[in-house]
Amino acid sequence: MNFEKIIIIILFILNVGLFASYITVCKNCHGKNFEKRALGKSRIVKNMKKEDIIKRLKYFKTSNLIMKSYASRLNDKQIETIGTIFGK
Ligand code: HEC
Repeated sequence: MNFEKIIIIILFILNVGLFASYITVCKNCHGKNFEKRALGKSRIVKNMKKEDIIKRLKYFKTSNLIMKSYASRLNDKQIETIGTIFGK
């Protein structure tokens, strides 16, 4: 585990309420730890690289996919945090 990840996880624990509010909705489809294939369709996000997660979430904002509305609610900082915590 690298240093950046440790820091982000500490911030995550301190700030869990705030983080949870934008991540809660994701769990309905992707599972608690992003371990499921959302709607039997997506890749398993927890097996993806951090960079891939970030790239995909930014791409979804301009797509016509199911993820468009969810990704559009996230800012760059939130996308970065999701990638760091759940990606490899
Ligand atoms: C209604 C179910 C649903 C919800 C809620 C949802 N997703 Fe998704 N997600 C999908 C589907 C389906 C895909 C596959 C791409 C597509 O068709 O939109 C996907 C793809 C992804 C991917 C890329 C995986 C791939 O296959 O490339 C990431 C990362 C992701 N979602 C993160 C999130 C995050 C973060 C949230 C919450 C902000 C979220 N999702 C909420 C259904 C959902």
